[in-house]
Amino acid sequence: RAKVWLDCDPGRDDLVAILLALHLPEIELLGLSSVHGNASIEHMTYNAVRVLCSFGTPEQVATIPVHKGAERPLLVRPREASFVHGCDGLGGVEGLLDMTNPTVAAKQAEALKGNAVQGLADACRSLPDGEKLTLIATGSFTNVALFVSLFPDLVVEKVDRIVAMAGAEGRGNKSPVAESNVLCDPHAAAIVFDAEVPVVLCPLNLTHTALFTPSIHRLLLQPRPTHLPPTPPLTPTGVGTLPRALTPLRHTLSTNLSSFAEAYRLKYGMDGPPLHDALTVAFAAHPELFKGKRYRVDVELTGSHSLGATVVDLWDYKKAPEDTWGRDGKNVFVLEEVDTQAFWREVFL
Ligand code: BDR
Ligand code: CA
Repeated sequence: RAKVWLDCDPGRDDLVAILLALHLPEIELLGLSSVHGNASIEHMTYNAVRVLCSFGTPEQVATIPVHKGAERPLLVRPREASFVHGCDGLGGVEGLLDMTNPTVAAKQAEALKGNAVQGLADACRSLPDGEKLTLIATGSFTNVALFVSLFPDLVVEKVDRIVAMAGAEGRGNKSPVAESNVLCDPHAAAIVFDAEVPVVLCPLNLTHTALFTPSIHRLLLQPRPTHLPPTPPLTPTGVGTLPRALTPLRHTLSTNLSSFAEAYRLKYGMDGPPLHDALTVAFAAHPELFKGKRYRVDVELTGSHSLGATVVDLWDYKKAPEDTWGRDGKNVFVLEEVDTQAFWREVFL
């Protein structure tokens, strides 16, 4: 099982990523941290806590820490994404426990006292000799940039790779040319892409091939054997015109993804929302479903129209020299293809 730390800004697709990290048998989730991005850091932290407490097993709820992370980027002004994720990051999602639940209240109080970077360092230190964790990043890169800057030795010794939803080749979703997680803290992204550890990127070009279309939504609502464990019953609340899903977990996913789908239809005219962040966890669990290649990727930090664009050197123009760590200049492994059928049927459903 891959030991995983998930740094996230939940966020509708982050919610799916957390659920996969909690329940895929190939993953052992060691900790969650929040970062600014889709909404305020308080909401991001609260959402991580709510998802864990609502759908984690009692043991996971008791043992998986949640730590609050950076509330703002290193240099640029903070941004948010209320149009796509709602003002609190999970607008319209039904079936999550809230602050009236004592476990959520206690976990949230603990999380707000935490420190994402320190929590991640502690998790690395408590790994047995010779073991490493995979650091998954599905939000802005501020926490991860601070972590690789503050604890470079731990990163080399204890992190096998950083897998991040980030960037794009030739397109953007937060500006004409910039992907949201990179644009929310471009300087941090640049630091992480050059970290002294393998970095794997799930860019928009990949995530836009895994769209949660109405036909996948129908499958989610159908009776079907699933690897997901049963969850405690929650109050049924209905999902607008959709039939109620068979389990509370599927009901929550259904309401979450209907709101996501509506936002993507209005904003981008797409038939279904990409499940961006979920693909990072899917990759950690099932790398065999993905194909990709190493490239030199730089982040535009000074352009007047292109801040946060990821410049992917597809044709090796830069003939990049050796970097500080003695590697060739190709700094990241970019995922380019995923077996979407297998993703939907074997991982998601
Ligand atoms: C990324 O931006 C965020 O809004 C999503 O949660 C995802 O991590 C997609 O560009
Ligand atoms: Ca995210």
